Amino acid sequence: MAGISRRRFLTNTAALSAVGAVPRWVRAAPEASVSTRRFVVRTDSEIGKIRPELHGQFVEHLGSCIYGGIWVGKDSPIANVGGYRKQMVDYLKELGVPVLRWPGGCFADDYHWQEGIGPVKQRPRRPNLNWGNVIDDNSFGTHEFVGLCRLIGAEPYLAGNVGSGTPTELREWVEYCNFPSGTTLSDLRAANGSPEPFRVRYWGVGNESWGCGGDMRPEHYGDLYRQFSVYLKTFGGTKPFLIASGPSGDDVRWTRGLLDTLQGGLPNGLSMHYYTGGEQVATKFDREHMNKQLAIFAKVEQAIVHQRQVIDGYHRGDQVGLILDEWGVWDQIPEEDEAKRGQLWQQSTMRSGVAAGLGLNLFNRQADKLLMCNIAQMVNVLQSLLITDGPEGKECVRTTTYYAFQLFKAHRDRMAVRVEGDDTSPRGLSVSASKDEGSVVLSFVNPSADAALHVDAALHDRSAKSATATILHDADLNACNSFDTPNRIVPKPHPVRIEGASVLMELPPLSVATVEVKTASL
Ligand code: AHR
Repeated sequence: MAGISRRRFLTNTAALSAVGAVPRWVRAAPEASVSTRRFVVRTDSEIGKIRPELHGQFVEHLGSCIYGGIWVGKDSPIANVGGYRKQMVDYLKELGVPVLRWPGGCFADDYHWQEGIGPVKQRPRRPNLNWGNVIDDNSFGTHEFVGLCRLIGAEPYLAGNVGSGTPTELREWVEYCNFPSGTTLSDLRAANGSPEPFRVRYWGVGNESWGCGGDMRPEHYGDLYRQFSVYLKTFGGTKPFLIASGPSGDDVRWTRGLLDTLQGGLPNGLSMHYYTGGEQVATKFDREHMNKQLAIFAKVEQAIVHQRQVIDGYHRGDQVGLILDEWGVWDQIPEEDEAKRGQLWQQSTMRSGVAAGLGLNLFNRQADKLLMCNIAQMVNVLQSLLITDGPEGKECVRTTTYYAFQLFKAHRDRMAVRVEGDDTSPRGLSVSASKDEGSVVLSFVNPSADAALHVDAALHDRSAKSATATILHDADLNACNSFDTPNRIVPKPHPVRIEGASVLMELPPLSVATVEVKTASL
């Protein structure tokens, strides 16, 4: 155990017992019977800034994510702000969405942006080829998307069509969005209600080009990326930040094949996708399958480290931002749920909240290697932050995943620091920390369904003046915020104690906790 002596831990615990007002677990803690996890928070060992974009989101024309989810239309009986579901907007504003990716996903490579502008009634109706051939009337297009971003304060990120589109089409979308005025396309944007350029910075050049985005070999996609990127220009001072379609998981063959083909002309960002598959229905997991699924997060972390190494091996590779563009749990989805609520509609349970916490913790730990991470998806699809009971559902529920994001908000824009500890197993207690001048924020995730843990986190070089903790917890791994019990699992204040430089608390099984510690230097 580095940095804190066992004797000091025992001394601190004894001092707490002496004052009497300590929780039962602390009095019982000292020796072997209760499991204790000790950490040293190395405030002197900086990892990198935790970019708010690590808490990014993704919305796709899929199921009831857009239509009936975030977009109900101006004439809807559901309370809305200019067509956007009001309750969702309020919840998203409260959380803060740093960046939002649209329109896909697989949908992006079959999307033609010109069909989603101008008078709504004249927009063509198209089958959604990727998602059940449902008819998309294009009523949610570029203006509606950028309007949503402005409403909730998110940076827009547009995913361009490479699979079935052309360089001209994508180049014109950039011009339509960003050229200030005076060209036919920028004047068309003004005529459509937005004289000010949208100033969209993030541009995806294709999505999953190895699969639904064209089923290409990396060399072929690499050639297309080279061709497309030539035409994606800076307009009105907005330099496009180009994001190439990267690997599925840790597929090094794709990354190398692509980067070898690109040679010097590397993209600004490389998008990898890594889902955490589940073998059971979201609300019916058993412990064994939960453990199996949660263990995958260790592989996600390894993949990030590995992909970063591979990219850094290229000349100027360190300039390419690694983006985890789609992540989250993808469980088995019953047909009846999809029929009622839309394709890939999935409930978020306590297990999913733990999964979100594991993901967000690992992003903090790898903050120097990641530029952006976008969970799939924001609303009504896969590991959503917000769900409705289908497109007609009036109520919007904040899921355990929403609340896990809320707990991690305290880390945004702070410096991630290393934590040394005695629990390195893939299913062990997960921890991350960040600091600023006068405070340290710690996050813990206990993924075990049965083991309560005592945590002793010692701050290096600082003393703790005060601490407050908030926890998300339910003893039942399948518990969720449903339409009947929307507030079953919400963050709650949690007991935490400080002693000198140590932060002491108990973590029940299946919990995500954040501790905000006011500190003083020693
Ligand atoms: O998020 C659902 C789908 O998963 C996306 O459309 C695609 O990019 C990925 O395969």
